[in-house]
Amino acid sequence: MKEQEKKSGSGAAAKSPETPPAQVLWAGRLAERPGAEAFAFQSSIAVDRRLALEDIRGSRAHAAMLGRQGIIPAAAAAALDAELAVIAGELESGALVIDESAEDIHSFIEGVLTARLGDTGRMVHAGRSRNDQVAVDFRLYLKRVVPELRGELAETMAVLLDQAEKHAASVMPGYTHLQRAQPVTLGHHLTAWCAGLDRDRGRFGDALVRLDRCPLGSGALAGSGLPLDREAAARDLGFAGPTLNSMDSVADRDFALELAAACAVTMVHLSRFCEDVILWASGEFRFINLAESWSTGSSIMPQKKNPDFAELIRGKSGRTAGNLVSLLTLLKGLPYAYDKDLQEDKEALFDSLDTVRSCLRMFRGMMDSAVFNTERMAAACSGGFLEATDAADYLVRKGLPFRKAHEAAALVVRDCMEAGQGAIGERTLDQLKARSGLFEADIYQALSPAACAAARNLPGGPAPEEVRRQIGELRKRLA
Ligand code: ARG
Repeated sequence: MKEQEKKSGSGAAAKSPETPPAQVLWAGRLAERPGAEAFAFQSSIAVDRRLALEDIRGSRAHAAMLGRQGIIPAAAAAALDAELAVIAGELESGALVIDESAEDIHSFIEGVLTARLGDTGRMVHAGRSRNDQVAVDFRLYLKRVVPELRGELAETMAVLLDQAEKHAASVMPGYTHLQRAQPVTLGHHLTAWCAGLDRDRGRFGDALVRLDRCPLGSGALAGSGLPLDREAAARDLGFAGPTLNSMDSVADRDFALELAAACAVTMVHLSRFCEDVILWASGEFRFINLAESWSTGSSIMPQKKNPDFAELIRGKSGRTAGNLVSLLTLLKGLPYAYDKDLQEDKEALFDSLDTVRSCLRMFRGMMDSAVFNTERMAAACSGGFLEATDAADYLVRKGLPFRKAHEAAALVVRDCMEAGQGAIGERTLDQLKARSGLFEADIYQALSPAACAAARNLPGGPAPEEVRRQIGELRKRLA
C-alpha cells in the first residue's frame, strides 16, 4: 500500500490530471517492480480496455452488494456507485483517457476510483479478485456482443433470402466434384447457404445460454469468507444466476472455446460461399456480376475487375481457425484454477468476433449489390447432359428397375457423344427407343432444365415453389 500511495502521490508525472500513473494492485507485497519492457509484456490493457464499461458495470453491482450486505458502509457503496457512473460517462465522452501504462483495465479503474475517493475507492475490491472480475467482464461483454453478431447473421440471411426469392425459378447447374451434375435453381443454391448461417445463429445462441452464469463472488478461486450475496449480484448484472463452483468459475473458458468454434464454423461457411462467388465471377463461368464498388482493379492490368472482397473473406477464415486452435492449445494442460496464461484468451476471441462481424457485413454488401447472369446460368444447364438422371427417372416411372434405367440413359448419353450431340433431347424418338422401348414422345418435355428442376419438388428440393417454402421457413425463424 505504501508503494501504491507513493506512486499515486507522484501523480504530477501522469500524462494528464485525469489519468493516474500506472500503479499496481499488489504493491504491498513486492517492493520492486518489473522493468518497463517486462511490465508492458505482462500488461493486458491494450486488449482488455474494451471491457472498460463491463468492468464498471461489474464493480457497480459488486459495490452495491457489499453495501447491502453491510460489508462496507452504505455511504461508501453509494459514493462508489456514483463515481463509477461518472467514470463510465467520462470514458464514453472521452474526458477520461485509459492509461495504456496500467497493468490492466481492472487496475486502471480501481486506480481512478482510489485517486478520486481515497479509502472509499480502496473498499471496492473486498471479496473480489481480478480472476473472477475478468471472468465477469468477459461474459458481460459477450452477452452484449454475441447477440449483435446474431443480428449480423440474420441481416446477412435476409439479404441472401431476398436474392433467393428473386431467383427462386432461375435455373442453374448444381455441381458435385465441381462437375455439372443436375439442374437446380439459384434460389436453391442461395438458400443452401442460408441453412448453414441459420445453424451458425443457433450455435452462437447455444453458447450464450451456457455462458449466462455469473462468476462474481468466486474470488481468486476459493470464493470468500465475507458474506457476499452471489445470487443478488448475478441477478443485478442480468445473469440467469451465479456459477456453480468457484474454482471452475475462474478456470473455465469453455464459453470462449464455444464461441471461437462458432466463429470458425461461420467463417468456414463464408469462405465456401466466397469460393462459389469467386468461381462465378470468373470469365469462364460469368454467372455473377459483382458491383464495381464491391470489386477492385489491378495496378498493372487495365482490364482487371477482381473479387477481392470475396477473396479476403475467404482468407480471413484462416485466422478464426487459428484462434480456435490457439485457445484450445492455451487451455490444454492448464492446472486448476487460474493461471496468467488465461490472459491470452481475450485477444484470440475478440479477433474472431471482430472478423466474423466485419466479414458478414462485407459479404452482405457484396451479395446485395451483385447481379446474377441468369441467362449464362440457364445456358450452362445445357450441353453437359444434366438431364440424364431425369431420363433415367422417366424410365423408372414407366416401371423399369433403376439400375437398368441408369444404364439405358448412360447409353443414350454415349450415343449423343458419338454423334456430336450435346443433349438427350437431340436424339429422335426412334434412336431413344433403340436404348429403351419405354421412351415416348413426352420424354422431350421432361428434359428441359426448368422441367428437371421443377420436378424435384420434394421438401428440400430446388423446385421454385419448394424453394419459396424454404425461404418462408427461414424467414419465420429470423422473425
Ligand atoms: N489481466 C488478467 C486477465 O486477463 C486479469 C486477471 C489477472 N489476475 C492475476 N492474478 N494476475 O486474465
